[in-house]
Amino acid sequence: MRLLSQFGQAGEQGQQRKMPHRHPMVPVGRNCVGQGIQSLPREEDPRIAPSNVDIDQFIPQIVSYGEGMTKRSKTAETAPAFRASGLTKVYGEGRTAVHALRGVDMEIPRGEIVVLLGPSGSGKSTLLNILGGLDRPTDGTAHFADTCLTDMDDAGLTLYRRNHVGFVFQFYNLMPSLTAEENVELVTEIARNPMAAGEALSLVGLGERRNHFPAQLSGGEQQRVAIARAVAKQPEVLFCDEPTGALDSTTGRAVLRVLRDVNDRLGTTILIITHAAATAAMADRVIRFADGGILEVTVNKTRVDPEELVW
Ligand SMILES: Nc1ncnc2c1ncn2[C@@H]1O[C@H](COP(=O)(O)OP(=O)(O)OP(=O)(O)O)[C@@H](O)[C@H]1O
Ligand SMILES: [Mg+2]
Repeated sequence: MRLLSQFGQAGEQGQQRKMPHRHPMVPVGRNCVGQGIQSLPREEDPRIAPSNVDIDQFIPQIVSYGEGMTKRSKTAETAPAFRASGLTKVYGEGRTAVHALRGVDMEIPRGEIVVLLGPSGSGKSTLLNILGGLDRPTDGTAHFADTCLTDMDDAGLTLYRRNHVGFVFQFYNLMPSLTAEENVELVTEIARNPMAAGEALSLVGLGERRNHFPAQLSGGEQQRVAIARAVAKQPEVLFCDEPTGALDSTTGRAVLRVLRDVNDRLGTTILIITHAAATAAMADRVIRFADGGILEVTVNKTRVDPEELVW
């Protein structure tokens, strides 16, 4: 059963962009009450997951569109990419407890570029890690389409990360002894429905540099390899935590252009955490964080091209 083959059109906010109909999910159950308080082992790498398992055995609620589509999966088709309700995260206990998220309610429509802004320590990465299945909330619920993430066991979250989401971090985490193409192949070899590594590198403008090692690439180029690696498995969602944080503004704009292209061409929902406030102008939606909560959500009528951003 393949999940990622079907694309369709959607015209949210009046824009006719290619959107994927790629959330073939139906509800897990009614008890999505966010009881999961244990954290995933820190040493677990989101890019490494069991390669010999069929996700459908673990998450039978995931069904494909087209033939055999059920009423419930139609509901999933129109569900937002993410919904969070009362999302709370407390690190530690008692007087030393840190309230990283204080009951966050939000919705992220699919196919959007969403920029998260906010001061250091305001909870942005904590939210991203929970939506990305890297961490669990102390309380509250989070849904990916119609599937409750906060009810999933560790095996389910591993497969969720492996099959549905890609991560891009500030530091590129490339294997120095592997070429750009081999770095991307690390992911395509275990993904369910990958594009070819060369195709992913072409998408980020590095088709000609596939045989270069990370040390032979600039910072911006290395970040583009990291994006190619995240995109190659054709995830529905890309989580980017300060993807331009280590780059100068010119190189940063080039990296943001790649993210925009991924959104335009593949319809991937993209969440970008950044301290470069100007990035907000390229987003469909801007979420401003402060002190573990959402201060403001702004929907942009038009999106500025990354090349136009100044910071
Ligand atoms: N594993 C942890 N243990 C204890 N406290 C943590 C942990 N992770 C994050 N925190 C705390 O939770 C709060 C929110 O952190 P978070 O990383 O989400 O902030 P952020 O908005 O991403 O900040 P920045 O912009 O600096 O990356 C901070 O006070 C941080 O110190
Ligand atoms: Mg952070």
